[in-house]
Amino acid sequence: MAEQIRVLLTEEEVQRRITQVAEEINRDYGNTPLHLICVLKGGVMFMCELAKRLTMPVSFDFMSVSSYGSETKSSGVVRIIKDLDEPLTGKHVLIVEDIIDTGRTLAYLIDVLKQRGPEDVRLCTLLDKPERRVKKQVSVDYTCFTIPDAFVVGYGLDYDQKYRNYPFIGVVDGVAESEEKESAR
Ligand code: IMP
Ligand code: MG
Repeated sequence: MAEQIRVLLTEEEVQRRITQVAEEINRDYGNTPLHLICVLKGGVMFMCELAKRLTMPVSFDFMSVSSYGSETKSSGVVRIIKDLDEPLTGKHVLIVEDIIDTGRTLAYLIDVLKQRGPEDVRLCTLLDKPERRVKKQVSVDYTCFTIPDAFVVGYGLDYDQKYRNYPFIGVVDGVAESEEKESAR
Protein backbone atom coordinates (compact mmCIF):
# COMPACT_ATOMS: atom_id res chain seq x y z
CA MET A 1 0.00 0.00 0.00
CA ALA A 2 1.31 3.44 -0.89
CA GLU A 3 2.26 5.63 2.04
CA GLN A 4 0.64 8.98 2.64
CA ILE A 5 3.20 11.78 2.35
CA ARG A 6 2.32 15.12 3.90
CA VAL A 7 4.37 18.20 2.97
CA LEU A 8 6.35 19.53 5.91
CA LEU A 9 8.72 21.91 4.10
CA THR A 10 8.09 23.10 0.56
CA GLU A 11 10.77 23.18 -2.12
CA GLU A 12 10.86 26.99 -1.87
CA GLU A 13 11.33 26.90 1.91
CA VAL A 14 14.13 24.37 1.63
CA GLN A 15 15.91 26.28 -1.13
CA ARG A 16 15.63 29.60 0.71
CA ARG A 17 17.05 28.13 3.89
CA ILE A 18 19.93 26.38 2.10
CA THR A 19 20.86 29.75 0.59
CA GLN A 20 20.95 31.33 4.08
CA VAL A 21 23.09 28.53 5.52
CA ALA A 22 25.47 28.71 2.54
CA GLU A 23 25.86 32.45 3.15
CA GLU A 24 26.72 31.73 6.79
CA ILE A 25 29.35 29.18 5.71
CA ASN A 26 30.74 31.65 3.16
CA ARG A 27 31.08 34.27 5.90
CA ASP A 28 32.71 31.82 8.34
CA TYR A 29 35.29 30.35 5.95
CA GLY A 30 35.96 33.31 3.65
CA ASN A 31 38.29 32.09 0.93
CA THR A 32 39.55 29.05 2.86
CA PRO A 33 39.27 25.89 0.73
CA LEU A 34 36.56 23.60 2.04
CA HIS A 35 36.46 19.80 1.69
CA LEU A 36 32.84 18.59 1.65
CA ILE A 37 32.15 15.03 2.74
CA CYS A 38 28.77 13.73 1.70
CA VAL A 39 27.27 10.90 3.71
CA LEU A 40 25.59 8.71 1.11
CA LYS A 41 22.95 8.30 0.03
CA GLY A 42 20.74 10.71 1.92
CA GLY A 43 23.11 13.68 1.88
CA VAL A 44 23.59 13.84 -1.88
CA MET A 45 20.83 16.24 -2.91
CA PHE A 46 21.54 18.60 -0.04
CA MET A 47 25.27 18.59 -0.79
CA CYS A 48 24.68 19.54 -4.43
CA GLU A 49 22.32 22.37 -3.51
CA LEU A 50 24.63 23.64 -0.79
CA ALA A 51 27.80 23.39 -2.89
CA LYS A 52 26.29 25.47 -5.73
CA ARG A 53 25.96 28.37 -3.29
CA LEU A 54 29.46 28.22 -1.79
CA THR A 55 32.03 30.72 -2.95
CA MET A 56 35.34 29.37 -1.60
CA PRO A 57 37.32 26.66 -3.48
CA VAL A 58 35.39 23.44 -2.79
CA SER A 59 36.28 19.76 -3.17
CA PHE A 60 33.96 16.75 -2.77
CA ASP A 61 34.32 13.31 -1.30
CA PHE A 62 31.77 10.63 -0.46
CA MET A 63 31.36 8.08 2.26
CA SER A 64 28.76 5.39 2.84
CA VAL A 65 28.12 3.91 6.26
CA SER A 66 25.68 1.51 7.83
CA SER A 67 24.85 0.51 11.39
CA TYR A 68 25.84 -2.88 12.71
CA GLY A 69 23.00 -5.23 13.68
CA SER A 70 20.58 -4.21 16.39
CA GLU A 71 22.58 -5.82 19.20
CA THR A 72 25.62 -3.64 18.66
CA LYS A 73 23.72 -0.60 17.48
CA SER A 74 23.55 0.91 20.94
CA SER A 75 27.36 0.95 21.04
CA GLY A 76 27.23 3.38 18.12
CA VAL A 77 29.56 1.31 15.98
CA VAL A 78 28.90 1.80 12.30
CA ARG A 79 30.39 -0.05 9.36
CA ILE A 80 32.11 1.84 6.56
CA ILE A 81 30.67 0.55 3.28
CA LYS A 82 32.48 3.03 1.06
CA ASP A 83 35.43 4.95 2.40
CA LEU A 84 36.73 8.32 1.24
CA ASP A 85 38.95 8.53 -1.85
CA GLU A 86 41.14 11.37 -0.59
CA PRO A 87 43.27 11.82 2.57
CA LEU A 88 42.10 14.50 5.01
CA THR A 89 45.48 15.76 6.21
CA GLY A 90 45.44 19.52 6.73
CA LYS A 91 41.98 19.97 5.22
CA HIS A 92 39.05 21.98 6.50
CA VAL A 93 36.34 19.33 6.46
CA LEU A 94 32.60 19.91 6.40
CA ILE A 95 30.47 16.78 6.79
CA VAL A 96 27.18 17.13 4.92
CA GLU A 97 24.34 15.00 6.29
CA ASP A 98 20.66 14.66 5.49
CA ILE A 99 19.43 14.25 9.06
CA ILE A 100 20.78 13.81 12.58
CA ASP A 101 18.52 11.51 14.50
CA THR A 102 20.04 9.57 17.42
CA GLY A 103 23.44 10.99 16.47
CA ARG A 104 25.07 7.53 16.53
CA THR A 105 26.25 7.65 12.93
CA LEU A 106 27.81 11.07 13.25
CA ALA A 107 29.38 10.47 16.66
CA TYR A 108 31.26 7.55 15.14
CA LEU A 109 32.06 9.25 11.85
CA ILE A 110 33.44 12.40 13.46
CA ASP A 111 35.75 10.27 15.65
CA VAL A 112 37.03 8.32 12.65
CA LEU A 113 37.59 11.40 10.48
CA LYS A 114 39.35 13.38 13.24
CA GLN A 115 41.98 10.62 13.44
CA ARG A 116 42.97 11.32 9.84
CA GLY A 117 44.68 14.63 10.54
CA PRO A 118 42.25 17.25 9.20
CA GLU A 119 42.75 20.88 10.17
CA ASP A 120 39.18 20.88 11.51
CA VAL A 121 35.92 18.98 11.12
CA ARG A 122 32.53 20.67 11.18
CA LEU A 123 29.06 19.33 10.63
CA CYS A 124 26.27 20.63 8.45
CA THR A 125 22.84 18.99 8.33
CA LEU A 126 19.68 19.62 6.39
CA LEU A 127 17.48 18.36 9.23
CA ASP A 128 17.88 17.80 12.95
CA LYS A 129 15.58 15.77 15.19
CA PRO A 130 17.02 16.68 18.61
CA GLU A 131 14.22 14.92 20.53
CA ARG A 132 15.65 11.56 19.49
CA ARG A 133 19.29 12.31 20.27
CA VAL A 134 21.17 9.59 22.14
CA LYS A 135 24.69 10.88 21.49
CA LYS A 136 24.45 14.27 23.17
CA GLN A 137 28.08 15.11 22.38
CA VAL A 138 27.37 15.53 18.66
CA SER A 139 27.45 19.26 18.08
CA VAL A 140 25.95 20.48 14.84
CA ASP A 141 27.61 23.59 13.38
CA TYR A 142 25.05 24.34 10.66
CA THR A 143 21.41 23.20 10.72
CA CYS A 144 18.89 24.11 8.06
CA PHE A 145 15.80 22.94 9.95
CA THR A 146 15.05 21.54 13.37
CA ILE A 147 12.03 19.26 13.06
CA PRO A 148 9.82 17.32 15.47
CA ASP A 149 10.08 13.57 15.90
CA ALA A 150 8.50 12.29 12.69
CA PHE A 151 9.73 10.10 9.86
CA VAL A 152 10.49 12.29 6.87
CA VAL A 153 11.34 11.71 3.21
CA GLY A 154 12.36 13.68 0.16
CA TYR A 155 15.37 15.80 -0.68
CA GLY A 156 17.59 12.71 -0.51
CA LEU A 157 15.83 11.00 2.41
CA ASP A 158 14.08 7.70 1.82
CA TYR A 159 11.50 5.35 3.17
CA ASP A 160 12.47 1.87 1.98
CA GLN A 161 14.64 3.50 -0.74
CA LYS A 162 11.66 5.44 -2.10
CA TYR A 163 10.97 9.19 -2.36
CA ARG A 164 14.62 10.37 -2.36
CA ASN A 165 13.92 12.42 -5.48
CA TYR A 166 11.01 14.39 -4.02
CA PRO A 167 11.97 18.08 -4.14
CA PHE A 168 10.29 18.84 -0.78
CA ILE A 169 10.43 17.36 2.72
CA GLY A 170 7.39 15.27 3.58
CA VAL A 171 6.24 13.34 6.62
CA VAL A 172 5.32 9.70 6.08
CA ASP A 173 2.17 9.14 8.09
CA GLY A 174 1.70 5.94 10.01
CA VAL A 175 5.32 4.71 10.05
CA ALA A 176 5.95 2.79 13.25
CA GLU A 177 9.20 3.16 15.17
CA SER A 178 10.33 -0.39 14.28
CA GLU A 179 9.86 0.21 10.55
CA GLU A 180 11.68 3.49 10.93
CA LYS A 181 14.76 1.65 12.18
CA GLU A 182 14.70 -0.74 9.25
CA SER A 183 14.67 1.97 6.65
CA ALA A 184 17.34 4.14 8.22
CA ARG A 185 19.93 5.46 5.78
P1 IMP B 1 21.39 8.40 13.48
O1 IMP B 1 22.66 7.61 13.56
O2 IMP B 1 20.28 7.82 14.33
O3 IMP B 1 21.56 9.88 13.72
O4 IMP B 1 20.85 8.10 12.03
C1 IMP B 1 20.92 8.99 11.06
C2 IMP B 1 20.56 8.35 9.74
O5 IMP B 1 19.32 7.61 9.79
C3 IMP B 1 20.35 9.48 8.79
O6 IMP B 1 21.55 9.82 8.16
C4 IMP B 1 19.29 8.94 7.86
O7 IMP B 1 19.90 8.31 6.78
C5 IMP B 1 18.50 7.96 8.70
N1 IMP B 1 17.26 8.62 9.19
C6 IMP B 1 17.02 9.06 10.44
N2 IMP B 1 15.80 9.64 10.54
C7 IMP B 1 15.26 9.56 9.30
C8 IMP B 1 14.01 10.01 8.73
O8 IMP B 1 13.14 10.62 9.37
N3 IMP B 1 13.84 9.75 7.40
C9 IMP B 1 14.76 9.11 6.63
N4 IMP B 1 15.95 8.68 7.12
C10 IMP B 1 16.19 8.91 8.45
MG1 MG C 1 22.18 9.83 6.27
